[in-house]
Amino acid sequence: MIVLGIETSCDETAVSICRDEVILSNVISSQISHAEYGGVVPEIASREHEKMLNNITIKALKYASIDLNQVQGIAVTNGPGLAGSLLTGVSFAKGLALGLGVKIISINHLEAHIIANLLEEPNIDFPFLCLLVSGGHTQLWLIRELDNYTLLGETRDDAAGEAFDKGARIIGLGYPGGPAIEKCARIGNDSLIEFPRPLINSEKIEFSFSGLKTSLLYFMDSFTESKKCSINDVAASYQKAIIDCLISKLHLSVKQTGINTITIAGGVAKNSVLRNQLIKVFPKKNIIFPDLNYCTDNAAMISYLGEKKFNLGCQTNLDFGIMPNFQL
Ligand code: KG4
Ligand code: ZN
Repeated sequence: MIVLGIETSCDETAVSICRDEVILSNVISSQISHAEYGGVVPEIASREHEKMLNNITIKALKYASIDLNQVQGIAVTNGPGLAGSLLTGVSFAKGLALGLGVKIISINHLEAHIIANLLEEPNIDFPFLCLLVSGGHTQLWLIRELDNYTLLGETRDDAAGEAFDKGARIIGLGYPGGPAIEKCARIGNDSLIEFPRPLINSEKIEFSFSGLKTSLLYFMDSFTESKKCSINDVAASYQKAIIDCLISKLHLSVKQTGINTITIAGGVAKNSVLRNQLIKVFPKKNIIFPDLNYCTDNAAMISYLGEKKFNLGCQTNLDFGIMPNFQL
C-alpha cells in the first residue's frame, strides 16, 4: 500500500511516502526563522507550514517516483503540538484525501516517535522499553505491542529537550539547543562542574529538569571563562547531568520490569553521548537506536505508522479535529 504522511506539529514541515513499510521519500523543511527568537514562534510556524506544504509534497512524490494518483491513503499528525501548526497539516491532508478519494488516518505524534524504532528493527522483540525524549516530552514507555502502551513515568516539569534548549540559551549558544550543546561539549570536561541531578535517588520513575536549568542560570551569573573552566566544560557538565538523570530512570524501569529490549525516541535520541552511555550502562541488553533522520520530527514515522494502522483495518472519519494536548 502507498501512504503519504504529513507532519507539521511544530517547526518542521515534513512529507513522506511509504510503500509496503519501506520509506521511499522523507522530505523535511526545518524553519530557520525561529532561531533569532531563541525558540519556536507559533504564528510564524503555521504561516511557514502553509507556505511550504505544497512544495514539500511535490518533492516527496518526485523523490519517491510516485504519482499523486497512486497514493492510496493519507496519514497526518493531529497532536500533540502547536494548534496552528497542526491545523495547517490536518487541513491540507483532509483536502488531499477528499480530492483523491482515498482514506485518511490521524496519527499521534508521540506514538509515531516510538514506532520509528521499528523502521530500524522491523522484527523487534515485544515487549520493549522506550525512553521518549523530545522538546515537549520526557516519558518512559512500556510497549507491549502495537496499540498497547503503558506510561511508566514522565517529567514533572520541563522536558529533556527543553532543558537542552533553555540551557543553550543561558550559555549563549544557538537554537535548537541540543545539537549546539552536544557540539560545544565535545571538547569539554563533563565532570568539572557538579550540576544537580534532580530525583536521581528517588525510587519513582519521574524526571525533573527545571531545577537543573535554574542552577545553570545561577552558575552563569558569576561565570567568566578562564583556562580552568571554559564554556565547553559548562556545556559538557550540564549535558552529563541531563543524561545521568535519563539513564538512571531507564535503569530503574529495567529493574522494575525485567525487560531486555531498550529503545529511545525523539529529538534528544540523536545525542551521541546518550547513545554511548546507554551501550556502556546496559552491555547485555538489546538496545535499538532509531536512524538519526527518524529521531527529530519527520514524516517517515507518520507514513510508516499510518500504513501499519491502515493494514490493521483502522482509518479516521474526515471530521476529526486537531488535539494539541493529545495524550498517548
Ligand atoms: O522530537 P523533536 O524534533 O521535536 C519534538 O517533538 O519536540 O525534538 C526536538 C528536541 C529539541 O529540544 C532539540 O534541542 C533536541 O530535540 N535535540 C537534541 C539533539 N538534537 C535535537 N538534544 C540533544 N542532543 C542532540 N543532538
Ligand atoms: Zn517530535
